[in-house]
Amino acid sequence: MSLQDQFGKDILLTGWGHSKFGKLTDETLESLIVQVAGEAISNSGLDPKDVDEIYLGQFNSGMQPLGFTSSLALQLSTELANVPATRTENACASGSAAFQQGVKAVLAGTARNVLVIGAEKMTDAGADVVGAALLGASYEMAGKASSTGFTGLFAEVAKHYEKRYGSSIARPGFEAGLGDVLGSIAAKNHRNGMDNPYAQMHRDFGEEFCRTISDKNPMVAEPLRRTDCSPVSDGAAAVVLSTQATGGATATVRLAGFGHANDFFPAEKRDPTEFAATRASWERALGMAGVGIDGLDFAEVHDCFTIAELIMYEAMGLTPRGEGSRAIQEGWVYKDGKLPINVSGGLKAKGHPVGATGVSQHVIAAMQLTGTAGDMQLPNARRGAVQNMGGVGIANYVSVLEAL
Ligand code: COA
Repeated sequence: MSLQDQFGKDILLTGWGHSKFGKLTDETLESLIVQVAGEAISNSGLDPKDVDEIYLGQFNSGMQPLGFTSSLALQLSTELANVPATRTENACASGSAAFQQGVKAVLAGTARNVLVIGAEKMTDAGADVVGAALLGASYEMAGKASSTGFTGLFAEVAKHYEKRYGSSIARPGFEAGLGDVLGSIAAKNHRNGMDNPYAQMHRDFGEEFCRTISDKNPMVAEPLRRTDCSPVSDGAAAVVLSTQATGGATATVRLAGFGHANDFFPAEKRDPTEFAATRASWERALGMAGVGIDGLDFAEVHDCFTIAELIMYEAMGLTPRGEGSRAIQEGWVYKDGKLPINVSGGLKAKGHPVGATGVSQHVIAAMQLTGTAGDMQLPNARRGAVQNMGGVGIANYVSVLEAL
């Protein structure tokens, strides 16, 4: 059943913009927001005066004391004066939170055209400040000293996973178990990032480097090495959502389904080796779109750490629990595999400016579905999914997008 059948209207992505991701010393949060908002509105064929509402996904930009960031897009044009603008925060899923709020405003009929932006400027603060700011997504950890930041939380997940499933991982070429599997996921995403002009890291490290602990690839929090982590990043992305495309839109994509589920916190109530609410968000989105996992041509998923992508293979239903390693070992998730995952390089290589990530994933998917993804382009990309996660499986969002 389409959104048209369920809600009596389509949700279309009619324009988008994307900044370069990386350490952008010459940019401010405001300049990034204004850049991508301008690109998205212009590509949608609308005038700024046609925007009925704005949602901005932003987490905390390294705990810099910034207020009213939702209003920054108004700097783009005086015609945006008086447009309602709201900031959404759901940790690393703040961008998708903005996206789904925008979708609901259009479905509710309170807005015809919504501008959704995701933005974060993290590299201005020192590593210790950014680490503490990210840990603010985990209230148990906030305020406690941690030398390993969020990496430490996902390292714990990896340890639990290895204890439970480690023995089932070894296969020819993967004798050392989980470390090799995670290294292969890192190498895949770094290779893919080479084709993404927006990516922060254009470095094809290769399997051997990513699987090996070295001076250049030290352990950050055992068993996660530097190459198992997404980098600290600046960047922004934006999309315009509308019920119908204007004649001036350069390209258009339809939203086929969306899902959102939050999990218990603190995490003791949950099995750390399963992202149960992530699975629920996949089921909701795929169910609304009326497709199974084999109805997707690609997916962009939240690989903040390589262990997250591994567990995602299971949460999205690509493999049974404990068998996610098969997806990489048997080549399914490579660019030429049966379900290419993170052809953009993912958070791993593209970068992870927290609030921007969810919106960026939607933009990259829209590019794939309109044949405008350049060197990232997959042949015959007709339907794809994006998945964005805040915390360790706490705030979970999935969207299914399809070509018109
Ligand atoms: N992956 C691969 N290489 C990385 C990297 C990453 N994530 N981060 C930095 N590098 C490279 C740099 O390009 C640099 O290379 P060079 O020496 O050849 O120029 C080198 O490593 C050192 O860079 P630096 O910035 O000093 O690294 P760092 O050790 O301070 O930081 C991490 C590395 C992994 C600790 C940091 O990126 C991090 O904390 N990531 C996690 C962020 C996070 O928690 N996000 C939220 C997720 S929920």
